[in-house]
Amino acid sequence: MLTEQERQEIEAEVGQYANRRAACIDALKILQRHRGWVSDEGIRDLSCMLGMTPEELDSVATFYNLIFRKPVGRHIVLLCNTISCWIMGYEGIFNHVSGRLGIGFGQTTEDGRFTLLPIPCLGACDRAPAMMIDDELYTDLTPERIDALLSTYRSDGT
Ligand code: FES
Repeated sequence: MLTEQERQEIEAEVGQYANRRAACIDALKILQRHRGWVSDEGIRDLSCMLGMTPEELDSVATFYNLIFRKPVGRHIVLLCNTISCWIMGYEGIFNHVSGRLGIGFGQTTEDGRFTLLPIPCLGACDRAPAMMIDDELYTDLTPERIDALLSTYRSDGT
């Protein structure tokens, strides 16, 4: 069941559109912001509110790779795997991040701290290789820089 807070935030977004269904991506983002991911129950509740079938809403949710349909870690590591980052050493960077976290793409560390995902170009090609952790962009990645970043996120108390 949606909380009153979630419902109010979603209704505020719905009010921006002529059609309730048009607010579906915003609604999914709101739910994810509150819960960390979007469960089947969340899809059912939202679809009801937006006048969509659960299948329609699920197809939108699964189209966007940043809407999470299963639980994720407290920090989302998004590693760019597009052309400029490839040229600038993506493979080595991926191996380093993956090795340090002990997970591959689509997986979450055992302590629930990190989920590692690929992402298309982050718009920082001139400073490749690049990745995001949560909402922060990190560029000019090297193994040393990655170690320092991961260490910061490991000790951030979350
Ligand atoms: S290709 Fe990686 S930031 Fe553009």
